[in-house]
Amino acid sequence: MKYSGKTAVVTGASSGLGVEYARELAKRGANLVLVARSKDALDELAKELTKAHGVVVNAVALDLSSPTSGTKLMSELKKLKVETDILINNAGFGTSGRFAKEDRELVKDEITLNVLTLVDLTQAVLPAMLKRDSGAIVNIASTAAYQPVPGMAVYAATKAFVLSFTSAVWGETKNTGVRVLAVSPGATATNFFNVAGAKPSGGLAPISDVISATFKALDAAKSSPSVIVGGRNGAMSTLSKFMPVKLVIGVAASMFLKD
Ligand SMILES: NC(=O)c1ccc[n+]([C@@H]2O[C@H](COP(=O)([O-])OP(=O)(O)OC[C@H]3O[C@@H](n4cnc5c(N)ncnc54)[C@H](OP(=O)(O)O)[C@@H]3O)[C@@H](O)[C@H]2O)c1
Repeated sequence: MKYSGKTAVVTGASSGLGVEYARELAKRGANLVLVARSKDALDELAKELTKAHGVVVNAVALDLSSPTSGTKLMSELKKLKVETDILINNAGFGTSGRFAKEDRELVKDEITLNVLTLVDLTQAVLPAMLKRDSGAIVNIASTAAYQPVPGMAVYAATKAFVLSFTSAVWGETKNTGVRVLAVSPGATATNFFNVAGAKPSGGLAPISDVISATFKALDAAKSSPSVIVGGRNGAMSTLSKFMPVKLVIGVAASMFLKD
């Protein structure tokens, strides 16, 4: 992967993983378009990265949880005369609690942001990347993608979608110059659990683990459809495939279903 002089679009760049993806890409010489709702945080990061690395950084304040967000973002990119070389589909959030008690509007926003916008943006940029025979699309899944999670039923299902979808698109593009990758972090030290109103079942890994696993996979000579961050998470996710589904669901429930 070449980064210098390329333009990367990072969604969810106002907090957590998105901020560090942007910092790493700027360090590698990529120009950036930062997207999220929190305009002040985006502007501050844009200033920091331009000053530190001399790259061009634009901030686009946009709510990506409506079905038309992808179209809106593409028209903003057109106005900026930006060709997307790298797309990091990172914006996302989780809801928690018993599904029957969850807020229906919030659940719809969660599915739209985590699934629909991610698919739409992937589809919006992929044809031009294939034409240029270069580019990268990184879709952030989760270890929650690897089993149903009572207590975070919708969130885990959105991430299972992201993993399956991204892996399939990898299968369609693997012989091209375009890298398509799903990244599955385990519990990581960001604002995620505060927003979700959930408690992680164990410790939180540093954000740097996610960033280095992502770039290691992107820079590897051989492309992979997906990467699970952390050896223990990888082992657990693989193991769950060989365990009886009732047991897997029971273990997940004991970790995330609190009432
Ligand atoms: N942290 C973990 O334990 C963990 C584990 C596995 C996967 N993940 C995934 O990692 C990704 C990044 O999350 P994070 O952990 O960095 O959490 P975070 O610190 O809460 O960051 C989430 C980012 O998404 C943006 N976002 C949320 N709703 C949005 C909306 N409607 N429109 C536009 N942007 C929106 C937020 O910006 P604004 O609020 O400014 O809009 C923020 O920049 C998510 O897809 C998450 O599911 C996280």
